[in-house]
Amino acid sequence: MSIKHPLTLLLTLLFSALICNAGLAAQPIINYASLAQPVWSQHGMVSSQQAIATRVGVNILQQGGNAIDAAVAVGFTLAVTLPRAGNLGGGGFMLVHLADKKQTVAIDYREMAPFNAYREMYLNEDGSVDKNRSRFHGLAVGVPGTVKGLVEALQNYGNMSLQQVLQPAIELATTGFQVDRDLASSLQQSTERLTRWPATAKVFFHEDSSGYQTGEILKQPDLARTLKNIAEHGQTAFYQGDIAQKIVNAVNEAGGNMQLEDMRDYQVKFRQPVNGTYRGYKIQSMPPPSSGGTHIIQILNIMEQQDMTASGHNSAQSMHTMAEAMRRAYADRSEYLGDPDFVNVPLKRLTDKQYARQLYQQINPDQASISKDIKGGLENYPESPQTTHFSVVDRWGNAVANTYTLNFSYGSGILAEGTGVLLNNEMDDFSAKPGVANAYGLIGGDANAIEARKRPLSSMSPTIAFKPGSDEVFLVTGSPGGSRIITTTLQIISNVIDHHMNIAEATLASRFHHQWLPDKITLEKGFSTDTIRLLQQKGHQIDASSWAMGSTQSILKVDDGWTGASDQRQSGTLTAGY
Ligand code: GLY
Repeated sequence: MSIKHPLTLLLTLLFSALICNAGLAAQPIINYASLAQPVWSQHGMVSSQQAIATRVGVNILQQGGNAIDAAVAVGFTLAVTLPRAGNLGGGGFMLVHLADKKQTVAIDYREMAPFNAYREMYLNEDGSVDKNRSRFHGLAVGVPGTVKGLVEALQNYGNMSLQQVLQPAIELATTGFQVDRDLASSLQQSTERLTRWPATAKVFFHEDSSGYQTGEILKQPDLARTLKNIAEHGQTAFYQGDIAQKIVNAVNEAGGNMQLEDMRDYQVKFRQPVNGTYRGYKIQSMPPPSSGGTHIIQILNIMEQQDMTASGHNSAQSMHTMAEAMRRAYADRSEYLGDPDFVNVPLKRLTDKQYARQLYQQINPDQASISKDIKGGLENYPESPQTTHFSVVDRWGNAVANTYTLNFSYGSGILAEGTGVLLNNEMDDFSAKPGVANAYGLIGGDANAIEARKRPLSSMSPTIAFKPGSDEVFLVTGSPGGSRIITTTLQIISNVIDHHMNIAEATLASRFHHQWLPDKITLEKGFSTDTIRLLQQKGHQIDASSWAMGSTQSILKVDDGWTGASDQRQSGTLTAGY
C-alpha cells in the first residue's frame, strides 16, 4: 500500500489500458495506490451512512465508551436521522469482537413472524402471490427486534448506561435536526407510498403533502417520547404496555394479525459467527438466519482456488470465476438456507474447502454455465438504500459490525400512531411460494417457508476479518443492498486482500453481481467494453444498467492506527475517528 509517484502511477495505468485494449484475457495487476485516500485516526473510528450518527458515535468513544457503547448510540441515532433504514421497528444483526476475550459474538435481532403467520398467508385463491400483502400491508410486518437487540448488546458488552447512549438520539428527536439532501430526496421518492398512511404523513410531510426539504428542521416528538421511555424503563417499555399496544394496533388496523404476546415473547439470539479463512486471513461473519456470512465464505473458498491477484482486478478472467462462484452459492442459498431454529442448515458442508474445490472444478474457464442447469450442489458432494450498515472500532481493539433494516426504504411505510416508530416489511424476505421471487429476485424453497415465530432469511453480512495467525482485527465491513449485500461485502474483502487496495480504493472500485437467477452479471458503471466483450464471448448475459451497488462502511487496520471509508455512492455518509 505504498504511495507511488504520480508519474509512475500514470505510466502504470497507461500500460494497463494498452494491455486491456489488446484484448488479453489475463490483465496485469493495476496498482490503484493513492487513487483515493481513506480517513485516518489513531484510537477509534466510526463509519456510518449518516454524518450526525457518526459524530454521535465518535463522541461516545471520546467520552471513554467502548465500541459497543458507540455502536448502540449510533443504532438509536440512525432511527432518528436516517429514518428510511435506521430503525426501532425493524431488525438486524450485530457482530461484536471482544479483544480481551479474543471472542466474537453474533447477535441476531432479526424480526420474527407473528404467531398467526402461516405458509400460504400471501397466496390468492388462484395460488398466485399477493405482493401487496407481503410488502405494503399490516401482514408484511414482522415482530421488531432492534430495540431488544441494541439493549441486550449494551447490557452484555457495553460500559455505559442506556440513558447515556440514548441521550443523543432523544435530543435529536426532540429539538430536531437539519434534513440533508439524502433524506429530502428519499422522502420525495417515497411520497406516494408513505402519504397513504396518515400517521406516517404527519411525521415526514407537511400538511400540503410536500416532504421535508434539505435544510429544514425535522422534529419527531413521539419518537423522542418512545426513546425516553426506553432509556428510563429498558426494553420492556417497548415490548410490553402502551408502546407495544400501539404497534399491535397499527399493524392490525393495516390488515395484519399481530398480538401483544408476539411483542412480549420476542427473543434476541446470541449465536456463534460463521467462520472461514481466505488466504490466511480469518473471516467471521453472520450465520443463519442470514445467508450472508455462509455465502461470502463459500465464494471466497472458491476464489481461493485461483490466483486472483494475477488474474487482475475486474478483469474478465477474475469476473468469470467470481460470477460462476456467486451463481453456485446463490443456487445453494435458495435450496438450503433458512432460520436454523426451524431447519437444519448444512453450514459446515457449505463452507467446507473441499466442497469449494469441487465447485471450482465445475467451472469452465472459457464458458459460462447456465443457471437453470445449476441446482443446490450438496447432493453431489446461495442499490439499494433500504438497509444500513455501520462499523465501529475502539482503542482496545474491540470491533462492531452492524447491519439493520426495515427491508424497503421506510419498511411497510406504516408508522404506529403516537410512537414515531416506522414498521418493517421484513415478511417479504420469506419465500411466499416456492419458485416465486421476492422483491430482490431471490427465489427460496421449503427452508425459508413462512412459519409462526420463524425468522425470514436475510442477506445481511456484517463481517470482521483478522490478520493472518492472530486475533487482531484487520477489516470491519458490511453493506446494504438486498441480495447484493453478499457480493458487495465480498468484493471489499477481495479488493483489500487480493488487490492490495487501501480501504478508500476498495470502496470506490466498480462492483458487479450474479445471483444465479436471473442468469446475468449486473455491472455498475466503470467496466471496460473489452472486459464486457470478453465476458459475453464466454456466454455471460451482461446487464450494464445497474444502479449503484450497496453503501459499504468499512474500517481497516494499518500499522499506525485505523483507516476508514464511507461509500460515496450515497450522499451524507461519514467516517470519522479521534
Ligand atoms: N431485507 C434484506 C435482507 O435482510 O437481506
